[in-house]
Amino acid sequence: LRDDQLTYALELQRQYGDCASFRIGPMRIYQFAHPEQVSEICVKQAHCFHKVSSVKFYFKRWMRRGLLLNEGQDWQRQRRKVRWALTQIDASAVNHAIDAEVARLLSPELPHQVDMAAQMDRLAFGLNVRALFSADTEAIVEPLYEAANVLHATGIREMLSFSLLPDWLPIPSKRALRGAMRTFDQTLLGLARRRHAGDAPPDGMNFLVHARDLQGKTLGMPDRRARDEAVNLLMGGKETVGATLTFACYLLAQHPEIQAQAAAEAWAVCGERCAQLDDLDHLPVVTRVIRETMRLYPPVYSLSREVIRPVTIGGYRLPKRSTVIIPIYALHRDPRWFAEPERFHPERFAPQRQQPRPHYAYIPFGAGLRSCVGKELGFQQCVLVLASLLTRCQLRQLPTHAPPVLATDIVLHPHDGLPIVLESRQRSTREPSLT
Ligand code: HEM
Repeated sequence: LRDDQLTYALELQRQYGDCASFRIGPMRIYQFAHPEQVSEICVKQAHCFHKVSSVKFYFKRWMRRGLLLNEGQDWQRQRRKVRWALTQIDASAVNHAIDAEVARLLSPELPHQVDMAAQMDRLAFGLNVRALFSADTEAIVEPLYEAANVLHATGIREMLSFSLLPDWLPIPSKRALRGAMRTFDQTLLGLARRRHAGDAPPDGMNFLVHARDLQGKTLGMPDRRARDEAVNLLMGGKETVGATLTFACYLLAQHPEIQAQAAAEAWAVCGERCAQLDDLDHLPVVTRVIRETMRLYPPVYSLSREVIRPVTIGGYRLPKRSTVIIPIYALHRDPRWFAEPERFHPERFAPQRQQPRPHYAYIPFGAGLRSCVGKELGFQQCVLVLASLLTRCQLRQLPTHAPPVLATDIVLHPHDGLPIVLESRQRSTREPSLT
């Protein structure tokens, strides 16, 4: 399990079926891999589950009361406000973010080799910082990115080693952690205060501070709560969007014919400019590439929950405090719902080709009330960045490169990065060849 969680989940399902159980020390864990059971856990009986306490223990120090780890009525209220705030973000802010971040990625002269995983992680963070804090971005994106990496790496290291030394200890790792938390606090609280004082543009942070409900009633939130939600949005959108784009580039580099088709579509729609939100409906091929990438490499490869009151799932009675896992990676590779599940085949998502499958067989953004609050924004960012890249460059893998080893700390990603060569796209391959 520790060596290869993904294969473990697949094997567990193959050997024992959709419901399986195992123990890690005193912890009893149940895996449920059928869409009907997903619906029970995430929708119909969601009130019997919370997020897992051990994750809260390690990450709540900086996620605080933001959506990712919050629970109960307070979570419900905040979720309505954050949803509203995200729907208010101006299209021009999203478009401008794509322009700026793609230009940054492509600024060195082509061809050049990049570690796509590192580049896309940074790009995704930049997209969210720009969408959330439009006017103030340039000065804050780098320090926030460095701080986010420290927080993320520390959380994972401590969680995997089951250790939690007090944060005040005068040792280098704790000093770095305190510095990162201070950077987040000072920067984000400062931004929230400016927006409360009315001295700032109508960006994502402003909509958090002055949040309304869907009926238009102003509810607002204190600066500290806006800070918490902003941290959760930045962390929630960083690795997920980055990993999706990384794997999409990898899959397209491996399938030049699909890459050429997607590039031709992107070129026909966008020409020399970057893709924008208005283009989304005209990019069905690129959209299907992203959908299929999220099927094969779901960034959130597994959902976990703690049982807070006894509940029956799939005919099994689960005691309080047991842990439940939904192995999204295995669900997405189940031949009952996806023919030839290991094959990269974006056309399976074409409307005329869709294989009938249960509603919860494909859940890259989770399911039910706790599904991803940033799913529209995240999905749009993936499609638009990929289309923008494809109009300008060709993605090529190094001949010596083996398939990436997958790491599963929190978000699925290539363990040792992903080298890709970006080459200038020749005009002849840019021209539409969709017919
Ligand atoms: C490819 C992109 C993304 C993927 C695949 C993804 C996936 C997910 C999944 C599966 C969950 C549910 C986790 C669970 O049930 O335990 C989730 C929750 C969440 N995501 Fe995303 N996400 C993406 C992008 C984003 C973006 C761009 C943002 C912020 C703008 C974001 C912010 C959040 C937050 C705050 C939550 C917690 C929601 C709640 O519990 O109410 N995500 N995400």
